[in-house]
Amino acid sequence: MALERTLSIVKPDGVQKNLIGEVCRRFESAGLSIVAARMRHLTLAEAEGFYAVHKARPFYNDLCKYMTSGPVFVQVLEGEGAVARNREIMGATDPKKADTGTIRADLAASIEENVVHGSDSAENAAQEIAYFFSVTELYPRTR
Ligand code: CMP
Repeated sequence: MALERTLSIVKPDGVQKNLIGEVCRRFESAGLSIVAARMRHLTLAEAEGFYAVHKARPFYNDLCKYMTSGPVFVQVLEGEGAVARNREIMGATDPKKADTGTIRADLAASIEENVVHGSDSAENAAQEIAYFFSVTELYPRTR
């Protein structure tokens, strides 16, 4: 499997519930390394830009508003097959459909307040990482 990077966001509900450490613990325990991280309170324009791919979806406005409702914790994860691995650890978008033992099944309240975001492909991961971090802010452990 290839060494990859992916973007993870602990969403406002996760930050509010003091789950940053728990989420990071799950990633690190699964062999992913955190190579960049920062806390941000997104502006509406930043949230809209980040989720632009969902612009036509009925939940877009509520999602963007929700993502600006409090600070988020944005991080870059690195590891073998990191995009898919992160998605396995998060579980399905809807916590009711997520497998037991995943972040969303264990910790999420609803499809909107679902604790974490994770990139859904290597291509989107590269774009999403660049949205929040410059190359000089990444600190790989694996080289
Ligand atoms: P995320 O992985 O951040 O990507 C888009 C987000 O939209 C998703 O997680 C959900 O939190 C949110 N969302 C709200 N309603 C829906 C829905 N009906 N289907 C998919 N995503 C939704």
